[in-house]
Amino acid sequence: MDVKTLAVVGAGQMGAGIAQVAAQSGISVVLVDVDAELVERGVAGIRAQLDRAVSKGKLKTEDAKGALARLKTASSPQEAAQADFAVEAVTENEGVKKKVFQDLARALRPDAILATNTSSIPITRIAAIVDRPERVIGMHFMNPVPVMQLVEIIRGAQTSDATYTATRALAARMGKTTVLSKDMPGFIVNRILIPMLNEACFAVQEGLASAEDIDTAMKLGTNVPMGPLTLADFIGLDTCLYIAEVLHKGLGDDKYRPAPLLRQYVDAGWLGRKTKRGFYTY
Ligand code: CAA
Repeated sequence: MDVKTLAVVGAGQMGAGIAQVAAQSGISVVLVDVDAELVERGVAGIRAQLDRAVSKGKLKTEDAKGALARLKTASSPQEAAQADFAVEAVTENEGVKKKVFQDLARALRPDAILATNTSSIPITRIAAIVDRPERVIGMHFMNPVPVMQLVEIIRGAQTSDATYTATRALAARMGKTTVLSKDMPGFIVNRILIPMLNEACFAVQEGLASAEDIDTAMKLGTNVPMGPLTLADFIGLDTCLYIAEVLHKGLGDDKYRPAPLLRQYVDAGWLGRKTKRGFYTY
């Protein structure tokens, strides 16, 4: 299947990033969001990213213009009815995601593939509520989407081979490397990453070392671009807590229990970069 038009539903950071990369890869994109202001902000952000790449000499002016010309916006899935592939990237809330999937299934052709960028909700459960469970799949991009090389593909219990093959081809066309995960809590990346970030929270809580020293130790000691506490602030402490809870509940093992300090920061509204305070102030 050669994807001609991609619908990206949700114009937040992830949705805008996915739309940008797809448009730059020569795919026609419809960026859909009920919130007109969010769509406007998303497109402005994409334009700014492309302008910056042009000014750095990393992108040709005509390629930036071409990408923007391939990017359309819409306020409902009905306006993206021509799409043969959709990636849902709305807020990480099961009820909201299910509603979007039902709307997409009603609006798009019966053979269109519906992918979700969820980091924590079972694909199998989302697939079960639409008319084409074999055409539902997980396509988990990493943040920031234009920079990160990986896309995790998650096959639900019902996902067909053809859907998997088409999704892998789309990710490759977008310049991404894919890995295949079973539909288990946290998939691959968050199953391993979130317990590490959570352990760093326990280390702060126990006074093992300062936040700065924990981050320096891991950054310089294991050659990662960000220390675990900086990365937790970058992801959002509420998101980290939520995924830790999904792992704890879904895998049923207390080794995944969220650090009380992480929970306390979230209770305080210290969610990381987005609230200008987390383990660090911004
Ligand atoms: N969008 C687009 N491009 C971005 C960007 C963004 N939000 N942030 C940074 N960049 C680009 C910059 O423009 C720059 O590009 P050039 O090299 O072409 O100039 C490049 O990335 C490097 O940026 P900076 O020099 O500003 O900063 P940096 O070198 O510290 O890199 C970073 C920033 C890419 C975010 C890097 O620190 C990094 O890779 N951090 C780890 C990120 C990570 O682990 N993400 C996964 C989180 S887990 C997840 O997403 C899954 C989940 O479900 C929670």
